[in-house]
Amino acid sequence: MTGRNATEIAAPWLDRLRRVPGWLEPAEALLLHELAGRQHRAGRCVELGSYQGRSALALASALPAGQRLLCVDTFAGSAEHQPGGAFFEPSTLAPDGTVSTLGLFRRHVAAAGLDDRVETWAMPSLAAAARFEGRVSLLFVDADHAYAGVSADLAAWRPHLGPGAVVVLHDVGDWEGPTRCAADLLAAGFSRLAQGGTALALAVPAGA
Ligand SMILES: C[S@@+](CC[C@H](N)C(=O)[O-])C[C@H]1O[C@@H](n2cnc3c(N)ncnc32)[C@H](O)[C@@H]1O
Repeated sequence: MTGRNATEIAAPWLDRLRRVPGWLEPAEALLLHELAGRQHRAGRCVELGSYQGRSALALASALPAGQRLLCVDTFAGSAEHQPGGAFFEPSTLAPDGTVSTLGLFRRHVAAAGLDDRVETWAMPSLAAAARFEGRVSLLFVDADHAYAGVSADLAAWRPHLGPGAVVVLHDVGDWEGPTRCAADLLAAGFSRLAQGGTALALAVPAGA
């Protein structure tokens, strides 16, 4: 859908995003930004897995005044973010020795001037799905990367997806969980909409 090369785009939101620690690549951020700019008209944009705010900046910066991205994260990090893990970042270590990214997340969102475009739920994804009311038009899934975890997130949020909704899985091709779940969704009738890097956008089947 984009056709634009993220390396050639000069946008304040993309400059900000590059300063936030995380793994979302510019091409992936651009895809999220374009989808949020379009999908917000049909319902709520929701991200599962916010970490320090990199993807939140891509999504929330595309929303108009009065709309807020719902960011869901325990802010305690996944297994790979814990001390000794492959993706541990020392700056996320709280004084009590636990990983906590909520303060960093809030700081990065505020620095980007996006406080009024973000609503934060610090809780597990499944608890958030049980509490959520309304219609989701864009669901970005980037929380637990284990197959069981991604599957559970998709199952829990599936009832909230309205007609025309789009699901974006991050790390497709890089991690087994999202890769197998993308195949599951395609087999279930979702259609491939667009891809930027490892971010794969899939459209909910019509009439489902
Ligand atoms: C890969 S990071 C997200 C990166 C983020 N999207 C970005 O662009 O920087 C995964 C995040 O998911 C969160 N997480 C893992 N399992 C979760 C769960 N079951 N519910 C909510 N958050 C979860 C972790 O705390 C971590 O911050």
